[in-house]
Amino acid sequence: MARATERRRWGTPPRLAGLLAGLLAGLLAAGGLETLRLAGLPPVGTDPLVLLTVAGCTAAGGRASGASCGAPLLLYRGAGWLGGAAAPDGPTALLLVVSSTVLVLIVGALRERADLAMPRLDRERGERRALEAQLLQAQKMGSLGQLTGGIAHEFNNLLTTVRGHSELLLADLADDARARESVLQIQAAADGATALSRQLLAFSRPDSLGPGATPVADVVRSTGQMLWPLIGDAIRLEVHASPPTGRVRAMPIQLQQVILNLAINARDAMPDGGRLELRTSDVEIDAATAASAPGMRPGRYVLLAVRDTGCGMDEEVRAHLFEPFFTTKAPGRGTGLGLSTVYGLVKGWGGYIAVESEPGGGSTFRIYLPRIEEAAALAEGPGGA
Ligand SMILES: Nc1ncnc2c1ncn2[C@@H]1O[C@H](COP(=O)(O)OP(=O)(O)OP(=O)(O)O)[C@@H](O)[C@H]1O
Ligand SMILES: [Mg+2]
Repeated sequence: MARATERRRWGTPPRLAGLLAGLLAGLLAAGGLETLRLAGLPPVGTDPLVLLTVAGCTAAGGRASGASCGAPLLLYRGAGWLGGAAAPDGPTALLLVVSSTVLVLIVGALRERADLAMPRLDRERGERRALEAQLLQAQKMGSLGQLTGGIAHEFNNLLTTVRGHSELLLADLADDARARESVLQIQAAADGATALSRQLLAFSRPDSLGPGATPVADVVRSTGQMLWPLIGDAIRLEVHASPPTGRVRAMPIQLQQVILNLAINARDAMPDGGRLELRTSDVEIDAATAASAPGMRPGRYVLLAVRDTGCGMDEEVRAHLFEPFFTTKAPGRGTGLGLSTVYGLVKGWGGYIAVESEPGGGSTFRIYLPRIEEAAALAEGPGGA
C-alpha cells in the first residue's frame, strides 16, 4: 500500500530517471558541474566509479525521448568528472547508476544554490517592503495635505472677517482707549492665526515656484552667515557651497526658510554641541534610482544636504516627521510646522526630500531641487530675494 503510494508520487522508475536527468541537465546548464565540485565531493579513492547519465530515460513505448537520446554520459570518479561519452543508443537505454554520494552532492549543490539565492530574495523582499512603505507615506501626506488645505482655507476666510470687522471697530472706538486696546489684541491674534494658516497652506497647496533662477550655493552661503548667532558656539558650522552648483526655480527667501528650519531643528537636536554641515552639489538621478523612491523623477538636480551629529530619530519620529503639528518638543518650544512647511515648499518646487537618521547617529536631510539648465538660467537671470 505504502509502496503503491510512493510509486504514485515519484512515478515509474523511468520518470524518476527523467526527473533526475532534468535536474542534472539544469545544473549542468547553469554551471552546476562547478557547483557540484565546489559542494565538496568525497575524497579521492573512497567513492566507487559513478556513472551518471542525463540521458537514458525511455518512454513507455520503447522510443527514447528526444531530450534524452544521445545526451552526454558523465563519469565521476573520486574528485573529478570524466565526461564526454555518448549514451548508448537503443530503446531501453536507461543507464542511471547514481550512488548515494552523488545524490547527497546534488542535494548539497541545490542547497548551496538556494543559500546563494536566499540573501538576494531577502534583499528584494526588503526593498519591496520599503517601497510600499514609502508609497503609503506619500499617499498619507497627499491626503493630509488636502485635509489641512481645506481647514486652512476656511480659517483664512473667517480670519478675513475678524480682521475686517476689527478695523471697523477701531475706527468707531477712537475715544475709548481700553476698547481700542482690546480690539488691537484681537487683531494681533488674528494676524498670528493668519500666519499659521498660511504655513499650513504652504504644506498643502504648494505654489512656491519662483520667477527667476536662484543660485543655490549663494543662498546657502548667505544663510550660513545668519546661522552663527542662532546655533551658538557649541555647534561647529561647516558650509560647503560653491559654484558650479546650479540654479533652481525657488524664491531665495523661501529657500532660506527651508535652510533655517532644518538648521534650527539640527541645533535643537544637539543641545550639548556637535557639527552642522550644509553642502550643495549638482547630481543626476537616473531612472533606476528614481524608481527606488516614489515621488522622485529622473533628471538633473541641485542637492542640498543638511547633516547634523545630533540625537537622531527613531522610526516612529521618522514616520511622522513632515506631518503638520507633529513635534516631540516641549509645549511652547515647537509647533511642529517647521518640516511640514519645508515639505510643502520642496514639493512646490518639484523637488524631493530624503531623510537618513538613527537614534544617536545624527540626521541627514537631502533636498533635491530640479536644476534649471544653464541656457535657461542665463536667459532668466538671477532670482531676486
Ligand atoms: N535634525 C533633527 N534631529 C532630530 N530630530 C529632528 C530633527 N529635525 C526634526 N526632528 C524631529 O521632527 C520633529 C518635527 O520637526 P518640525 O521642524 O516639523 O517641528 P518642531 O521643530 O518640533 O517645531 P517647529 O519647527 O514648528 O518649531 C521635531 O519635533 C523633532 O522630533
Ligand atoms: Mg522645527
